[in-house]
Amino acid sequence: MKNILIIHGPNLNLLGQRDKEIYGPLTYHELQHEIREKALEIGLDVTFFQSNFEGALIDQIQNAESSKYDGIIINPGALTHYAYSLHDAIEAISLPVIEVHLSDIYARKETWRHISVIEPVVKDRFYGEGVISYFKALAAIKG
Ligand code: DQA
Repeated sequence: MKNILIIHGPNLNLLGQRDKEIYGPLTYHELQHEIREKALEIGLDVTFFQSNFEGALIDQIQNAESSKYDGIIINPGALTHYAYSLHDAIEAISLPVIEVHLSDIYARKETWRHISVIEPVVKDRFYGEGVISYFKALAAIKG
């Protein structure tokens, strides 16, 4: 069974209390549960990692290749929009990486959210559909 690393960036641990009208009602814990259930249903193992620190995310991306992971699904939070170090880390590994967002970053009122610096180096992207964005990413990485 493929084992997928699911990485979440800053403030995503606050889901359920943060901008619920944008990100939905699920807590981070509940989101993990939903994703894990769907993954099992389609035959994937998932491991979660969340950090508010850019460098911790980069360590996970770099180590994923030598660990047992077959791919990465990443929602980098606000780092999506300016963290070139994430771009470089993703570019440096050969595992497939899929970018996910709960909200439609292109429809958000803050124009700085309309840019994803990791877009050029990810295999696929799903956004704007809440937890369904993650389900689509799981299906895409399953292949
Ligand atoms: C987000 C969108 C980002 O702009 C924001 O900073 C987040 C969450 C999303 O999942 O919609 O933290 O990545």
